[in-house]
Amino acid sequence: MRVLVIGGGGREHTLVWKLRQSPKVEKIFCAPGNGGIARIAECVPIKPSEFDELIAFAKENDVGLTVVGPEDPLCAGIVDRFEDAGLRVFGPCGKAAMLEGNKLFAKEIMVKYNIPTAAYEEFDRTAEAIEYLRGVDAPIVVKAYGNALGKGVCVCRTIEHAEAFVKKCLDERAFGDAGSRVIIEECLVGEEASLLAFTDGETVLPMDSAQDHKPVYDNDEGPNTGGMGAYSPAPVVTAEVYQEIYRNVLKPVVEGLKSEGIKYKGVVYAGVMITGEGPKVLEFNARFGDPENQALLPRLENDLVDVMEAVIDERLDSVELRWKPESAVCVVMASGGYPGPYEKGKVINGLEEAEAVPGTVVFHAGTKGDEGRIVTSGGRVLGVTSTGESLESAIGSVYKAAGMINFDGAHYRTDIGAKALRRLEA
Ligand code: AMP
Ligand code: GLY
Repeated sequence: MRVLVIGGGGREHTLVWKLRQSPKVEKIFCAPGNGGIARIAECVPIKPSEFDELIAFAKENDVGLTVVGPEDPLCAGIVDRFEDAGLRVFGPCGKAAMLEGNKLFAKEIMVKYNIPTAAYEEFDRTAEAIEYLRGVDAPIVVKAYGNALGKGVCVCRTIEHAEAFVKKCLDERAFGDAGSRVIIEECLVGEEASLLAFTDGETVLPMDSAQDHKPVYDNDEGPNTGGMGAYSPAPVVTAEVYQEIYRNVLKPVVEGLKSEGIKYKGVVYAGVMITGEGPKVLEFNARFGDPENQALLPRLENDLVDVMEAVIDERLDSVELRWKPESAVCVVMASGGYPGPYEKGKVINGLEEAEAVPGTVVFHAGTKGDEGRIVTSGGRVLGVTSTGESLESAIGSVYKAAGMINFDGAHYRTDIGAKALRRLEA
Protein backbone atom coordinates (compact mmCIF):
# COMPACT_ATOMS: atom_id res chain seq x y z
CA MET A 1 0.00 0.00 0.00
CA ARG A 2 1.07 3.58 -0.67
CA VAL A 3 0.54 5.99 2.19
CA LEU A 4 0.40 9.80 2.28
CA VAL A 5 1.06 11.59 5.58
CA ILE A 6 0.02 15.25 5.71
CA GLY A 7 2.11 17.62 7.84
CA GLY A 8 5.77 18.25 8.51
CA GLY A 9 6.50 18.32 12.24
CA GLY A 10 7.75 15.93 14.89
CA ARG A 11 4.35 14.27 15.13
CA GLU A 12 4.42 13.51 11.40
CA HIS A 13 8.00 12.21 11.47
CA THR A 14 6.91 9.82 14.22
CA LEU A 15 3.88 8.73 12.17
CA VAL A 16 5.99 8.11 9.08
CA TRP A 17 8.59 6.21 11.15
CA LYS A 18 5.91 4.00 12.69
CA LEU A 19 3.94 3.42 9.46
CA ARG A 20 7.12 2.42 7.67
CA GLN A 21 7.46 -0.55 10.04
CA SER A 22 4.26 -2.04 8.63
CA PRO A 23 4.84 -4.88 6.18
CA LYS A 24 1.74 -3.64 4.34
CA VAL A 25 3.38 -0.33 3.44
CA GLU A 26 5.28 -0.21 0.18
CA LYS A 27 5.91 3.54 -0.06
CA ILE A 28 5.25 6.66 2.02
CA PHE A 29 4.81 10.21 0.78
CA CYS A 30 4.76 13.15 3.14
CA ALA A 31 3.39 16.62 2.33
CA PRO A 32 5.36 18.73 2.94
CA GLY A 33 7.59 16.71 5.36
CA ASN A 34 10.91 17.94 6.75
CA GLY A 35 14.63 17.18 6.69
CA GLY A 36 14.30 14.03 8.81
CA ILE A 37 11.22 12.69 7.06
CA ALA A 38 13.00 13.09 3.71
CA ARG A 39 15.41 10.35 4.79
CA ILE A 40 12.66 7.74 5.11
CA ALA A 41 9.86 8.93 2.82
CA GLU A 42 9.34 10.95 -0.34
CA CYS A 43 8.52 14.53 0.57
CA VAL A 44 6.13 16.35 -1.76
CA PRO A 45 5.99 20.15 -1.77
CA ILE A 46 2.24 20.54 -1.21
CA LYS A 47 0.93 22.52 1.76
CA PRO A 48 -1.57 20.89 4.15
CA SER A 49 -4.03 23.66 3.20
CA GLU A 50 -3.96 22.79 -0.55
CA PHE A 51 -6.75 20.23 -0.57
CA ASP A 52 -7.26 20.06 -4.35
CA GLU A 53 -3.56 19.46 -4.96
CA LEU A 54 -3.39 16.82 -2.20
CA ILE A 55 -6.42 14.97 -3.56
CA ALA A 56 -5.03 15.06 -7.11
CA PHE A 57 -1.68 13.79 -5.82
CA ALA A 58 -3.29 10.94 -3.87
CA LYS A 59 -5.27 9.87 -6.94
CA GLU A 60 -2.38 10.11 -9.37
CA ASN A 61 -0.06 8.18 -7.07
CA ASP A 62 -2.46 5.43 -6.13
CA VAL A 63 -2.41 6.32 -2.41
CA GLY A 64 -4.41 3.77 -0.40
CA LEU A 65 -4.31 5.57 2.95
CA THR A 66 -3.91 9.24 3.83
CA VAL A 67 -3.15 10.23 7.43
CA VAL A 68 -3.74 13.84 8.47
CA GLY A 69 -1.42 15.11 11.22
CA PRO A 70 -2.23 18.77 12.01
CA GLU A 71 -5.46 20.36 13.27
CA ASP A 72 -5.90 23.15 10.72
CA PRO A 73 -6.71 20.95 7.70
CA LEU A 74 -8.89 18.71 9.90
CA CYS A 75 -10.91 21.69 11.14
CA ALA A 76 -11.18 22.96 7.56
CA GLY A 77 -12.75 19.66 6.50
CA ILE A 78 -9.95 17.89 4.63
CA VAL A 79 -11.32 14.48 5.61
CA ASP A 80 -14.76 15.26 4.17
CA ARG A 81 -13.10 16.35 0.94
CA PHE A 82 -10.97 13.19 0.67
CA GLU A 83 -13.97 11.00 1.42
CA ASP A 84 -16.06 12.80 -1.20
CA ALA A 85 -13.27 12.06 -3.67
CA GLY A 86 -13.52 8.35 -2.79
CA LEU A 87 -10.18 8.25 -0.97
CA ARG A 88 -9.40 6.39 2.26
CA VAL A 89 -8.33 8.85 4.92
CA PHE A 90 -7.62 8.72 8.67
CA GLY A 91 -8.91 11.60 10.78
CA PRO A 92 -12.17 13.16 11.97
CA CYS A 93 -14.54 15.01 9.66
CA GLY A 94 -14.73 18.80 9.93
CA LYS A 95 -17.73 18.78 12.26
CA ALA A 96 -16.07 16.34 14.66
CA ALA A 97 -12.82 18.34 14.56
CA MET A 98 -14.73 21.32 15.97
CA LEU A 99 -14.09 19.68 19.32
CA GLU A 100 -10.63 21.20 18.90
CA GLY A 101 -11.40 24.06 16.53
CA ASN A 102 -14.10 25.70 18.62
CA LYS A 103 -13.57 25.68 22.37
CA LEU A 104 -17.13 26.96 22.95
CA PHE A 105 -18.57 24.02 21.04
CA ALA A 106 -16.36 21.71 23.13
CA LYS A 107 -17.56 23.35 26.35
CA GLU A 108 -21.21 23.04 25.32
CA ILE A 109 -20.76 19.35 24.55
CA MET A 110 -19.03 18.80 27.89
CA VAL A 111 -21.78 20.54 29.84
CA LYS A 112 -24.54 18.74 27.95
CA TYR A 113 -22.98 15.29 28.44
CA ASN A 114 -21.73 15.80 32.02
CA ILE A 115 -18.05 15.65 31.16
CA PRO A 116 -16.02 17.21 34.00
CA THR A 117 -14.34 20.48 33.03
CA ALA A 118 -13.65 23.93 34.50
CA ALA A 119 -16.70 26.16 35.10
CA TYR A 120 -16.79 28.95 32.49
CA GLU A 121 -18.51 32.00 31.02
CA GLU A 122 -18.26 33.24 27.44
CA PHE A 123 -18.05 36.82 26.19
CA ASP A 124 -17.79 38.69 22.92
CA ARG A 125 -17.84 42.19 24.44
CA THR A 126 -14.94 43.64 26.36
CA ALA A 127 -17.03 45.68 28.80
CA GLU A 128 -19.06 42.66 29.91
CA ALA A 129 -15.98 40.46 30.24
CA ILE A 130 -14.26 43.08 32.37
CA GLU A 131 -17.27 43.59 34.57
CA TYR A 132 -17.38 39.83 35.13
CA LEU A 133 -13.66 39.75 35.95
CA ARG A 134 -14.15 42.43 38.64
CA GLY A 135 -16.39 39.99 40.52
CA VAL A 136 -14.05 36.98 40.53
CA ASP A 137 -10.68 36.12 42.06
CA ALA A 138 -7.35 35.39 40.40
CA PRO A 139 -5.85 33.13 39.23
CA ILE A 140 -8.26 32.81 36.34
CA VAL A 141 -7.95 31.47 32.80
CA VAL A 142 -8.84 33.37 29.62
CA LYS A 143 -9.02 31.57 26.28
CA ALA A 144 -9.60 32.65 22.72
CA TYR A 145 -12.37 30.36 21.44
CA GLY A 146 -10.69 29.33 18.18
CA ASN A 147 -7.34 27.89 17.11
CA ALA A 148 -4.48 30.23 17.94
CA LEU A 149 -1.45 27.94 17.60
CA GLY A 150 -1.39 27.23 21.34
CA LYS A 151 -1.02 30.94 22.13
CA GLY A 152 -4.67 31.70 22.75
CA VAL A 153 -4.73 30.54 26.37
CA CYS A 154 -3.62 32.68 29.30
CA VAL A 155 -3.47 31.43 32.88
CA CYS A 156 -3.68 34.84 34.57
CA ARG A 157 -2.14 35.43 37.98
CA THR A 158 -3.94 38.74 38.43
CA ILE A 159 -7.24 40.24 37.29
CA GLU A 160 -5.30 43.05 35.54
CA HIS A 161 -3.47 40.43 33.53
CA ALA A 162 -6.80 38.79 32.63
CA GLU A 163 -8.27 42.13 31.56
CA ALA A 164 -5.27 42.78 29.34
CA PHE A 165 -5.62 39.37 27.70
CA VAL A 166 -9.34 39.92 27.10
CA LYS A 167 -8.48 43.20 25.35
CA LYS A 168 -5.74 41.51 23.37
CA CYS A 169 -8.34 39.05 22.05
CA LEU A 170 -11.47 41.16 21.65
CA ASP A 171 -10.12 44.66 20.93
CA GLU A 172 -6.66 44.20 19.46
CA ARG A 173 -7.72 41.03 17.64
CA ALA A 174 -4.27 39.58 18.26
CA PHE A 175 -5.58 36.15 17.23
CA GLY A 176 -7.85 37.37 14.45
CA ASP A 177 -11.24 35.69 14.34
CA ALA A 178 -10.07 32.95 16.71
CA GLY A 179 -10.15 35.59 19.45
CA SER A 180 -13.43 37.25 18.54
CA ARG A 181 -15.00 35.45 21.51
CA VAL A 182 -13.37 34.53 24.80
CA ILE A 183 -13.94 31.94 27.47
CA ILE A 184 -13.16 32.91 31.06
CA GLU A 185 -12.80 29.84 33.20
CA GLU A 186 -11.94 28.61 36.64
CA CYS A 187 -8.26 27.84 37.16
CA LEU A 188 -7.81 24.14 37.85
CA VAL A 189 -5.09 22.92 40.17
CA GLY A 190 -3.30 19.60 39.84
CA GLU A 191 -0.99 17.72 37.50
CA GLU A 192 -1.70 17.56 33.77
CA ALA A 193 -1.80 14.46 31.60
CA SER A 194 -2.78 13.52 28.07
CA LEU A 195 -4.92 10.53 27.24
CA LEU A 196 -5.57 9.88 23.56
CA ALA A 197 -7.90 7.31 22.07
CA PHE A 198 -8.57 5.79 18.70
CA THR A 199 -12.26 5.76 17.88
CA ASP A 200 -14.43 4.71 14.96
CA GLY A 201 -17.43 6.54 16.34
CA GLU A 202 -18.58 3.54 18.39
CA THR A 203 -15.63 1.84 20.02
CA VAL A 204 -13.27 4.05 22.03
CA LEU A 205 -9.83 2.53 22.43
CA PRO A 206 -7.58 4.58 24.71
CA MET A 207 -3.83 4.59 24.18
CA ASP A 208 -1.41 4.48 27.07
CA SER A 209 -0.96 7.71 29.04
CA ALA A 210 1.53 10.49 28.35
CA GLN A 211 2.51 13.83 29.79
CA ASP A 212 3.54 16.94 27.88
CA HIS A 213 5.66 19.83 29.23
CA LYS A 214 4.27 23.08 27.83
CA PRO A 215 6.26 25.87 29.56
CA VAL A 216 9.59 26.62 27.91
CA TYR A 217 11.87 26.44 30.96
CA ASP A 218 12.67 23.91 33.69
CA ASN A 219 10.26 23.70 36.65
CA ASP A 220 7.41 24.76 34.35
CA GLU A 221 8.60 28.35 34.18
CA GLY A 222 8.34 30.81 31.31
CA PRO A 223 5.78 31.12 28.53
CA ASN A 224 3.86 28.19 27.06
CA THR A 225 5.12 26.49 23.90
CA GLY A 226 3.76 23.83 21.58
CA GLY A 227 5.38 21.31 23.98
CA MET A 228 9.01 20.94 25.12
CA GLY A 229 9.00 17.23 25.83
CA ALA A 230 6.88 14.27 26.82
CA TYR A 231 7.06 10.85 28.37
CA SER A 232 4.91 7.76 28.45
CA PRO A 233 3.48 6.14 30.48
CA ALA A 234 2.67 8.88 33.01
CA PRO A 235 2.51 7.54 36.58
CA VAL A 236 0.05 10.32 37.55
CA VAL A 237 -2.44 8.38 35.42
CA THR A 238 -2.96 5.42 37.75
CA ALA A 239 -5.17 2.53 36.64
CA GLU A 240 -8.04 4.24 38.45
CA VAL A 241 -7.47 7.65 36.85
CA TYR A 242 -7.16 5.96 33.44
CA GLN A 243 -10.55 4.31 33.89
CA GLU A 244 -12.06 7.61 35.06
CA ILE A 245 -10.82 9.43 31.97
CA TYR A 246 -12.08 6.66 29.74
CA ARG A 247 -15.49 6.41 31.45
CA ASN A 248 -16.15 10.07 32.23
CA VAL A 249 -14.42 11.84 29.34
CA LEU A 250 -13.44 9.87 26.23
CA LYS A 251 -16.41 7.55 25.95
CA PRO A 252 -19.09 10.15 26.72
CA VAL A 253 -17.61 12.70 24.32
CA VAL A 254 -17.72 10.25 21.40
CA GLU A 255 -21.20 9.10 22.40
CA GLY A 256 -22.35 12.67 22.94
CA LEU A 257 -21.21 13.70 19.48
CA LYS A 258 -22.96 10.67 18.05
CA SER A 259 -26.22 11.83 19.68
CA GLU A 260 -25.61 15.18 17.99
CA GLY A 261 -25.39 13.37 14.65
CA ILE A 262 -21.60 13.62 14.41
CA LYS A 263 -19.60 10.45 13.88
CA TYR A 264 -16.11 10.93 15.30
CA LYS A 265 -13.48 8.78 13.57
CA GLY A 266 -9.77 9.13 14.18
CA VAL A 267 -7.90 10.12 17.31
CA VAL A 268 -9.54 12.05 20.11
CA TYR A 269 -7.12 13.63 22.56
CA ALA A 270 -8.13 14.69 26.07
CA GLY A 271 -5.80 17.08 27.87
CA VAL A 272 -6.83 16.76 31.53
CA MET A 273 -5.94 18.18 34.91
CA ILE A 274 -5.92 15.52 37.61
CA THR A 275 -7.55 17.54 40.39
CA GLY A 276 -8.54 16.57 43.93
CA GLU A 277 -12.02 15.97 42.50
CA GLY A 278 -10.76 13.70 39.74
CA PRO A 279 -9.71 14.38 36.14
CA LYS A 280 -11.18 17.50 34.48
CA VAL A 281 -10.81 18.39 30.81
CA LEU A 282 -8.55 21.31 29.86
CA GLU A 283 -8.93 20.81 26.13
CA PHE A 284 -9.78 18.34 23.42
CA ASN A 285 -7.66 17.90 20.33
CA ALA A 286 -8.79 16.14 17.19
CA ARG A 287 -5.47 14.49 16.36
CA PHE A 288 -2.33 12.85 17.68
CA GLY A 289 -0.32 14.94 20.16
CA ASP A 290 2.95 16.66 19.48
CA PRO A 291 5.26 15.77 21.26
CA GLU A 292 3.16 13.03 22.96
CA ASN A 293 3.31 10.99 19.76
CA GLN A 294 7.07 10.85 19.93
CA ALA A 295 6.81 9.13 23.34
CA LEU A 296 3.75 7.00 22.52
CA LEU A 297 4.31 5.46 19.10
CA PRO A 298 7.71 3.90 19.90
CA ARG A 299 5.88 1.97 22.63
CA LEU A 300 3.01 0.75 20.42
CA GLU A 301 3.42 -2.84 19.30
CA ASN A 302 0.47 -2.98 16.88
CA ASP A 303 0.83 -2.36 13.18
CA LEU A 304 -0.48 1.22 12.95
CA VAL A 305 -1.93 0.55 9.49
CA ASP A 306 -4.15 -2.18 10.98
CA VAL A 307 -5.44 0.17 13.67
CA MET A 308 -6.09 3.00 11.21
CA GLU A 309 -7.87 0.72 8.74
CA ALA A 310 -10.05 -0.66 11.53
CA VAL A 311 -11.05 2.93 12.37
CA ILE A 312 -11.85 3.75 8.75
CA ASP A 313 -13.85 0.53 8.30
CA GLU A 314 -15.59 0.95 11.68
CA ARG A 315 -14.46 -2.32 13.15
CA LEU A 316 -12.26 -1.04 15.93
CA ASP A 317 -14.01 -3.47 18.32
CA SER A 318 -11.81 -6.16 16.76
CA VAL A 319 -8.58 -4.39 17.78
CA GLU A 320 -6.64 -4.59 21.01
CA LEU A 321 -3.76 -2.20 21.56
CA ARG A 322 -0.51 -3.64 22.88
CA TRP A 323 2.13 -1.46 24.55
CA LYS A 324 5.74 -2.22 25.31
CA PRO A 325 6.33 -2.10 29.06
CA GLU A 326 9.31 0.22 28.56
CA SER A 327 9.15 3.96 29.21
CA ALA A 328 9.80 6.47 26.46
CA VAL A 329 10.97 10.06 26.90
CA CYS A 330 11.12 12.79 24.25
CA VAL A 331 13.17 15.96 24.76
CA VAL A 332 12.46 18.80 22.34
CA MET A 333 15.44 20.83 21.20
CA ALA A 334 14.33 24.32 20.16
CA SER A 335 15.79 27.29 18.30
CA GLY A 336 17.29 30.15 20.32
CA GLY A 337 14.48 32.58 21.16
CA TYR A 338 11.61 30.11 20.76
CA PRO A 339 8.68 30.51 21.61
CA GLY A 340 9.47 34.13 20.66
CA PRO A 341 11.18 35.13 17.39
CA TYR A 342 14.11 32.92 16.35
CA GLU A 343 16.62 32.55 13.53
CA LYS A 344 16.61 29.69 11.03
CA GLY A 345 19.24 27.98 8.91
CA LYS A 346 21.59 26.86 11.72
CA VAL A 347 23.58 23.71 10.87
CA ILE A 348 22.75 20.75 13.14
CA ASN A 349 25.63 18.48 14.15
CA GLY A 350 25.78 15.24 16.11
CA LEU A 351 22.59 13.58 14.84
CA GLU A 352 24.29 10.28 13.98
CA GLU A 353 26.14 10.12 17.28
CA ALA A 354 22.88 10.76 19.16
CA GLU A 355 21.06 8.00 17.29
CA ALA A 356 23.83 5.57 18.20
CA VAL A 357 22.74 5.79 21.85
CA PRO A 358 20.83 2.52 22.41
CA GLY A 359 17.05 2.86 22.16
CA THR A 360 17.24 6.37 20.69
CA VAL A 361 15.57 7.93 17.66
CA VAL A 362 15.78 11.60 16.73
CA PHE A 363 12.48 12.81 15.31
CA HIS A 364 12.76 15.99 13.27
CA ALA A 365 10.31 18.88 13.54
CA GLY A 366 11.67 22.17 12.17
CA THR A 367 14.53 20.94 9.97
CA LYS A 368 15.36 20.82 6.30
CA GLY A 369 18.06 19.35 4.12
CA ASP A 370 20.57 21.83 2.71
CA GLU A 371 23.38 20.56 0.46
CA GLY A 372 23.74 17.32 2.37
CA ARG A 373 23.51 18.97 5.78
CA ILE A 374 20.50 19.30 8.05
CA VAL A 375 19.67 22.86 9.12
CA THR A 376 17.04 24.36 11.43
CA SER A 377 13.84 25.70 9.87
CA GLY A 378 11.41 26.09 12.77
CA GLY A 379 10.98 26.84 16.48
CA ARG A 380 10.81 23.28 17.71
CA VAL A 381 13.67 21.62 15.84
CA LEU A 382 14.12 18.04 17.08
CA GLY A 383 12.41 15.54 19.37
CA VAL A 384 15.18 13.37 20.76
CA THR A 385 13.47 10.20 22.00
CA SER A 386 14.77 7.24 24.00
CA THR A 387 13.08 4.17 25.35
CA GLY A 388 14.40 2.34 28.39
CA GLU A 389 13.47 -0.40 30.82
CA SER A 390 12.68 2.23 33.41
CA LEU A 391 11.80 5.88 33.18
CA GLU A 392 15.11 6.66 34.83
CA SER A 393 17.12 4.77 32.22
CA ALA A 394 15.14 6.37 29.38
CA ILE A 395 15.85 9.81 30.85
CA GLY A 396 19.55 8.91 31.13
CA SER A 397 19.72 7.88 27.48
CA VAL A 398 17.74 10.78 26.10
CA TYR A 399 19.91 13.39 27.81
CA LYS A 400 23.07 11.61 26.77
CA ALA A 401 21.83 11.75 23.16
CA ALA A 402 20.61 15.36 23.35
CA GLY A 403 24.01 16.36 24.73
CA MET A 404 25.65 15.10 21.53
CA ILE A 405 23.57 17.32 19.26
CA ASN A 406 24.38 20.94 18.74
CA PHE A 407 23.29 23.90 16.68
CA ASP A 408 23.72 27.59 17.28
CA GLY A 409 21.23 28.77 19.94
CA ALA A 410 19.86 25.30 20.78
CA HIS A 411 17.99 25.05 24.06
CA TYR A 412 15.99 22.35 25.80
CA ARG A 413 14.52 21.56 29.18
CA THR A 414 16.68 19.43 31.45
CA ASP A 415 13.82 18.14 33.62
CA ILE A 416 11.59 16.18 31.23
CA GLY A 417 10.11 13.32 33.27
CA ALA A 418 11.37 14.67 36.60
CA LYS A 419 7.84 15.03 37.99
CA ALA A 420 7.20 11.36 37.29
CA LEU A 421 10.47 10.32 38.92
CA ARG A 422 9.54 12.26 42.05
CA ARG A 423 6.14 10.57 42.07
CA LEU A 424 7.68 7.12 41.61
CA GLU A 425 10.14 7.78 44.44
CA ALA A 426 7.33 8.90 46.75
P1 AMP B 1 -5.18 24.42 26.38
O1 AMP B 1 -4.62 24.79 25.04
O2 AMP B 1 -6.62 24.75 26.57
O3 AMP B 1 -4.82 23.03 26.83
O4 AMP B 1 -4.37 25.33 27.42
C1 AMP B 1 -2.97 25.35 27.41
C2 AMP B 1 -2.46 25.17 28.80
O5 AMP B 1 -3.02 26.17 29.67
C3 AMP B 1 -2.86 23.85 29.43
O6 AMP B 1 -1.99 22.82 29.10
C4 AMP B 1 -2.80 24.18 30.90
O7 AMP B 1 -1.46 24.15 31.37
C5 AMP B 1 -3.26 25.61 30.94
N1 AMP B 1 -4.71 25.67 31.24
C6 AMP B 1 -5.72 25.70 30.35
N2 AMP B 1 -6.91 25.75 30.98
C7 AMP B 1 -6.65 25.76 32.31
C8 AMP B 1 -7.46 25.81 33.50
N3 AMP B 1 -8.78 25.89 33.43
N4 AMP B 1 -6.84 25.79 34.68
C9 AMP B 1 -5.49 25.73 34.76
N5 AMP B 1 -4.66 25.68 33.69
C10 AMP B 1 -5.23 25.71 32.48
N1 GLY C 1 1.03 18.46 23.09
C1 GLY C 1 -0.03 19.35 22.89
C2 GLY C 1 -0.71 19.19 21.62
O1 GLY C 1 -0.45 18.30 20.83
O2 GLY C 1 -1.59 19.99 21.37
